[in-house]
Amino acid sequence: MTALERKVLQVLNGETLSPPPVWLMRQAGRYLPEYRATRRQAGSFLDLCYTPDMAVEVTLQPIRRYGFDAAILFSDILVIPDALRRNVRFEEGHGPRMDPIDAEGIARLDPLPVSSHLKPVIETVSRLRTELPGETTLLGFCGAPWTVATYMIAGHGTPDQAPARLFAYRYPQAFGRLLDLLADVSADYLVEQLDAGADAVQIFDSWAGVLGEEEFARYAVEPVKRMIASVRARRPQARIIAFAKGAGVLLKTYRQQTGADAIGLDWSVPLSFAAELQKDGPVQGNLDPMRVVAGGNSLDEGIDRILDRLGNGPLIFNLGHGITPQADPAHVTQLLARVRRGGETS
Ligand code: CP3
Repeated sequence: MTALERKVLQVLNGETLSPPPVWLMRQAGRYLPEYRATRRQAGSFLDLCYTPDMAVEVTLQPIRRYGFDAAILFSDILVIPDALRRNVRFEEGHGPRMDPIDAEGIARLDPLPVSSHLKPVIETVSRLRTELPGETTLLGFCGAPWTVATYMIAGHGTPDQAPARLFAYRYPQAFGRLLDLLADVSADYLVEQLDAGADAVQIFDSWAGVLGEEEFARYAVEPVKRMIASVRARRPQARIIAFAKGAGVLLKTYRQQTGADAIGLDWSVPLSFAAELQKDGPVQGNLDPMRVVAGGNSLDEGIDRILDRLGNGPLIFNLGHGITPQADPAHVTQLLARVRRGGETS
């Protein structure tokens, strides 16, 4: 089995496959009892990310159980701020926390230790490539500078990332330096993942949707463009998926402006618009994760609609955002069976 026969990679190269390949964002996670068991053993969430034995195990769990077409490295976008010494921790029931950064802190940020701090994650990638079935595409990932910066500024998640938006208006220079630094260390990190055996990488801009038009161009498009250019200057063949959640009509030019091969679509993107975007290249998405919680007809109907509207072009079937802890694992079995038989059978 050569890399060329890995289905998600084939679609990233522009092919249309029927049925489309499928994987789910956050496919390794709390909805799986086997994940919860390993998570308990690990102690802290970051220990899980930095212990290759356990990170390999939880990455493989959903592949063993369901046979997804792609495995996504188990880690988190916040390992970058952790490597930048922001004291990241994941507290039960509170989500991620870290020391909030200000303009002075940004001026003092030192990118030097990032690569050595993330060595265990890179080791996880190489081990995954040898342990995964040959036909499974291995995806690496990182957060987009804007999304990572929103957590670094606030020190935690917020409903609308107001602290980062405010900071960007007040201190545009410091904010610009933060985004440039994140773009540069993240590009290096993606190159290391590709060199360790990732077939493709995804850039998560989960908070792109809170930006106004001008800010989207400056804070979502520009840094991702800079990252992709930096990766491609070194690895011209790199395959890259960019997921700008909530970007709506701004997605029209996002692929071309950033240079991404494929764009991820959240569930609010209308399928008629998604079909337009697909004329320019592969798309990934966009089932509402709540349909996986609901199961039954809502799940089937959502799948069929996507296959009907996007199945005749380059599509990687996925959710419009991560699977949630409430999802019933049996509903994921239902999803895969339905996608793989091409939706409603006549
Ligand atoms: O997709 C996968 O299976 C790979 C692993 C992965 C995780 N996080 C594991 C995780 C990936 C790709 C991410 C990306 C990530 N992390 C994003 C971008 C995508 C998105 O969901 O918007 C963001 C914004 C984060 C930051 C983050 N990590 C938050 C806000 C949280 C807390 C919310 C929550 O679900 O608990 C995390 C923790 C986290 N990352 C968990 C997992 C499995 C749950 C923590 C646990 O098991 O205790």
